[in-house]
Amino acid sequence: MSGKPLLYIETYGCQMNFADSEILVSLLQDQYDTTREHAQADLILVNTCSIREHAEQRVFNRLREFASLKRKRPGLRIGLVGCMAERLKEELLASDLAIDLVVGPDAYRSIPRLLSLVESGRKGIDVLLSEEETYADILPVRLGDNRVSAYISIMRGCQNYCSYCVVPYTRGKERSRDAATIVEEAASLVRQGYREVTLLGQNVNSYRAGEVDFPGLLEKVALVSPSLRIRFSTSHPKDLSDKLLSVMAEYPNVCKAIHLPVQSGSTAMLKKMNRKYDRQSYMERIEAIRRAIPDCGISTDIIAGFCGETEEDHRQTLSLMREAGYDSAFMFKYSERPGTFASKHYPDDVPEEVKLRRLNEIIDLQQSLSLESNRRDVGKVFEILAEGKSKKGNDQYFGRNTQNKVVVFDNPAGEDGQRPVSPGDYVKVRVESCTAATLAGQACFEGKA
Ligand code: 5AD
Ligand code: SF4
Repeated sequence: MSGKPLLYIETYGCQMNFADSEILVSLLQDQYDTTREHAQADLILVNTCSIREHAEQRVFNRLREFASLKRKRPGLRIGLVGCMAERLKEELLASDLAIDLVVGPDAYRSIPRLLSLVESGRKGIDVLLSEEETYADILPVRLGDNRVSAYISIMRGCQNYCSYCVVPYTRGKERSRDAATIVEEAASLVRQGYREVTLLGQNVNSYRAGEVDFPGLLEKVALVSPSLRIRFSTSHPKDLSDKLLSVMAEYPNVCKAIHLPVQSGSTAMLKKMNRKYDRQSYMERIEAIRRAIPDCGISTDIIAGFCGETEEDHRQTLSLMREAGYDSAFMFKYSERPGTFASKHYPDDVPEEVKLRRLNEIIDLQQSLSLESNRRDVGKVFEILAEGKSKKGNDQYFGRNTQNKVVVFDNPAGEDGQRPVSPGDYVKVRVESCTAATLAGQACFEGKA
């Protein structure tokens, strides 16, 4: 123990926020050691999400708990960072939540300076957005539970302005990080034993740094090491190119999985959402994926009950889901976000109980699509990157196949002289059974399969 004060960081929201928390810890590592127990902390940072009202409510509840902790320990400092900091700004400092520090996603470098302000009895705030900040030179301190899989943030911000979405306002303009620093980060992870990276951006398909576009970047990272798997998220359907699909098809270590948020199956809704594609052009992209990579896993995001959505619009969403045959989906009720185009121009007029019923129909349908997709995999053998012990215990391991499906399998420890599986191993697993959420099977080895 170095005797440094202790930092506890709690992260809400998307993968990008988890990657940002690793940057935050890196920026503060000279001053703080980290702890996993908030009760021990000298500084608590809450990295927040504004995407739906519910996400913000969870953070407010948590902040009330931290505020009562601070009443018992006045020396405790509490910082709120990320999207809610950007959206609510000074309002947060004025609240009764005992927040000392409010810092937006592009201002993390100023935290050490703001902390000294706080020590002199003031409050610290920096919510400036930047057109350049990519934290390219910051080596993230990895906080994940395993040493197998890591996030690499390749771009920041979003300027697609989907009409329902708060992200362009909280994360600012889109900017891409220099390709050489990304390749170097991937290489350094390989040297540390990592076996998988996920390249992150709000819209990775529009990555561009000088001459390098996203397919070009993917190729460079794929060439770092054949034993490194590469994933990426999120793809906007409007610019998922054939060039990207051919790079994915060409490199075995680029995972065969695409997250392609559709949001709605109705062209009228898509237009109102400002998604810049219609049902037909979206389905054309799905077909292009199936042609180039027949075994590709495809997942999506769906919003139920957007402004003015009719029963017919909703049925269009259900029918598109069936046509696309998604392997998995993240599904949400529309939540109006202050400041967005939709909040200013379209009434949030689908009644709560209708939103909920439609969401449940979408969830039920996806359950059956996921189960069908998993049933098709029973009997197949997949190469799984082992991540760790399954939470269910009984000596089972879990990992994912290239399509991003979770696979649980028995650890063949000691059997037939095989060495036990450890995290980071590639293991061939024959699938024997499934639920809608997971595949289950046995590791198989040469001569034993
Ligand atoms: N309400 C509900 N869901 C939303 N998303 C983004 N904004 C909203 C909102 N206002 C969903 C979209 C997006 C995912 C990250 O969150 O489906 O793809
Ligand atoms: Fe939001 Fe649309 Fe940008 Fe995604 S692409 S972050 S949904 S504005």
